[in-house]
Amino acid sequence: MNLDEIRALDKTDPLADKRLEFDLPKDVVYLDGNSLGALPRAVKTHLSQVLCQQWGNDLIKSWNDHQWIDLPVKVGEKIAPIIGAASGQVICCDSTSVNLFKLLCSALTLNSDRNVVLSTEDNFPTDLYMVQGVSDLLGEDLCHLQLVDEKDIQQNLTESVAVLLLTQVNFRTGKSLDMAKLTQLAHDKGILVIWDLAHSAGALPVELDQCEADFAVGCGYKYLNGGPGAPAFLYVATRHQEFVKQPLSGWMGHTNPFAFDTHYQASSNINQFQCGTPSVIAMSALDVALDVWRNVDMLTIQTKSVALSQVFLRLMQQHQPLDDLTLCSPVDAKQRGSQLAFSHNDAYAICQALIEKGVIADFRAPNMIRFGFTPLYTSFEDVWRAINTLRDVVESKLYQAQRFKVAAKVT
Ligand SMILES: Cc1ncc(COP(=O)(O)O)c(C=O)c1O
Repeated sequence: MNLDEIRALDKTDPLADKRLEFDLPKDVVYLDGNSLGALPRAVKTHLSQVLCQQWGNDLIKSWNDHQWIDLPVKVGEKIAPIIGAASGQVICCDSTSVNLFKLLCSALTLNSDRNVVLSTEDNFPTDLYMVQGVSDLLGEDLCHLQLVDEKDIQQNLTESVAVLLLTQVNFRTGKSLDMAKLTQLAHDKGILVIWDLAHSAGALPVELDQCEADFAVGCGYKYLNGGPGAPAFLYVATRHQEFVKQPLSGWMGHTNPFAFDTHYQASSNINQFQCGTPSVIAMSALDVALDVWRNVDMLTIQTKSVALSQVFLRLMQQHQPLDDLTLCSPVDAKQRGSQLAFSHNDAYAICQALIEKGVIADFRAPNMIRFGFTPLYTSFEDVWRAINTLRDVVESKLYQAQRFKVAAKVT
């Protein structure tokens, strides 16, 4: 492929104009939106209005006048169509880790005659750590973590499993799991499923309702572009809402917080999954960031995501010296999320050298470099530039310079 062919792809890209809605630095190729989404331009103006007008001028009146109090539900409703959820099932609150705690406890209580939480060895650590925390709190008799290889999930769906906890798209390899099939198989054995959508919400079509999912969580700061540490979301299927009870019974989950009642009475709808006062400034950023998704069809997102990654792989193949980088993501685009991962003994140093040359990817221990494609703002020319830079870095052995070997706190 040559640059003219690449530019032709950008010209016919139906999402090309979406890039203009983001504030991306010139001369940087950003392939890390799977870790931290880029800044939507509208967030800048809206946040300054939230700070100066809503907080600065209108002060506490803004809880009502600017509907701060409704933000968790309002933002949840904006996320819902992106993950295939009908109204009333998604709320924006807390972090993904905290939401996992709430949902793990809820699901274990619903399935209280069983104690196993089944998950994968390669799941994102916070998912596993949260189960370990619940296990320490409740005791092994009520919560026992069982870990299996991704390929062995199906054969371990037994009648002692209470909860299946899976991340749909593996954070390292980008391999995606079949949500419809695994949810169905789990339900056949009476198992409830919690899906972590950190690497799928906004990256590919997710159909929670259609798959009859029970519970889900996900991040606001990756493909949803809500900003660093943006609040997360959670999903609880309507059919479970009147039977579940989550343990972080803060006043915002009360049926009537401003009654200041002595006794906790959980709201009967998705509101009970809130805990304390929402982080208004952060949630306002996510609120406006989600407007970029108006009129965006998730199939268009997926088509472009696949095209970007296929072009990336084709261009890689044009450069034989890059053979040392071994693809760890599935070759079949239908089986992966919106990223490609490669292993290399010097993956960290290569990643640092790329960043110095203006191509931002990231490293995941022990030896992987990840390239994330965010169809809203990644262009085909970005991919072209990234591959050329990668070729320069590898062929010139620039990455072997000592300065690229010093591990930073955040990789
Ligand atoms: C699969 C998965 N779950 C959860 C998280 C993070 O959770 P939190 O936002 O609570 O830090 C990440 C972060 O990258 C992730 O990849």
